[in-house]
Amino acid sequence: MPVDLRHHGDSEIGPGLVDLAVNVRQGMPPTWLRELLATSLSDISAYPNADRATRIVAGHHGRDPEEVLLTVGAAEAFTLLARVLATPGRAWSEPAGYEPGGSGSALAAPSPAGLPVSRPVVVHPQFTEPEAALRAVGFVPDRVLLPDPFVLDASLVPDDADLVMIGNPTNPTSVLHPAATIASLAREGRYLVVDEAFADCVPGEPESLASVRLPGLVVIRSLTKTWGLAGLRIGYVIGPPELVAAMREAQPLWAVSTPALAAAEACVSPRAQAEAFRWAGEMADRRRVLVDGLTALGAYVVPEAQGSFVCVRLPHALQLRTLLRERGFAVRRADTFPGLGPEWLRVAVRDDETTAAFLAALKEARDDLPA
Ligand SMILES: Cc1ncc(COP(=O)(O)O)c(C=O)c1O
Repeated sequence: MPVDLRHHGDSEIGPGLVDLAVNVRQGMPPTWLRELLATSLSDISAYPNADRATRIVAGHHGRDPEEVLLTVGAAEAFTLLARVLATPGRAWSEPAGYEPGGSGSALAAPSPAGLPVSRPVVVHPQFTEPEAALRAVGFVPDRVLLPDPFVLDASLVPDDADLVMIGNPTNPTSVLHPAATIASLAREGRYLVVDEAFADCVPGEPESLASVRLPGLVVIRSLTKTWGLAGLRIGYVIGPPELVAAMREAQPLWAVSTPALAAAEACVSPRAQAEAFRWAGEMADRRRVLVDGLTALGAYVVPEAQGSFVCVRLPHALQLRTLLRERGFAVRRADTFPGLGPEWLRVAVRDDETTAAFLAALKEARDDLPA
């Protein structure tokens, strides 16, 4: 049966259910950020201008503003990228100096390049939107399915792949691939797209490639998870200037709102970064409690989890998910991720009290499974 690439954790939650399905930090945004967003509303009669926020975000990663595009969440970045890569004669392939409608001789027209990407590959299990965005514009990507424990083996990626998409740390496995292994996939003639939506779950972001320039390397980041801005929508893409310019051109005018721009600036500030660093350390302690509890109940947890969620295999997972819902807990089914199956669930890391209550409910649910 084909998996539903557009199934996401938010469709698992509901009234009265404790949310362990959505990977957004609870209790966010912090007061200081809420206040800043409220202040930004005094400017919303003007059209947004992303220049300053782009400079600040780029500077945070040691990059040039031309290498950064702020987007309506990471999700928009996948869509823009897919559209740009699928558009024949796209602007960024034109020779320098080309002006649409101009009368220059050798620069008269873009060559209809056809699909610049002919062998897209998505490394799974991972977040399904990158593949969905590719499919939405007509690509039919190949899947590289990493075997459990889901650590990247670069030799599994076909040599002729000219677009490789991977997540790091990876949703839903919570696996953090070494930056060097991912970087070894970069080469001329290939786009290497790394979804780092959860990079800030790891204190110091040791395996991030956001500050690294490599041929065709594109890094996509999200600010919606750690800062609780899923409804505001803010993320960004970092990559080669010509590709970023093409994505900017493909992006609807004024796409990122003034409050979202204010959030982007604030979330890369030293104060926010220090807060994220502290939180990531504390979250790791809470994750250990969850992993230990699940393991004590006989579940298998994908080892070395580094994200704000864990990936769990246990018999009758889908039945347990239903029984957990009856007990007030929403966990995410993980059988919709290519490479996983009906025995997999994804569980968000929450505070210790919530985790204890969840583990008690899971134990009860397991005991209630029909023989
Ligand atoms: C791995 C991953 N990347 C990207 C996104 C999209 O993030 P955003 O809210 O910034 O669009 C998600 C959302 O769940 C995700 O899990």
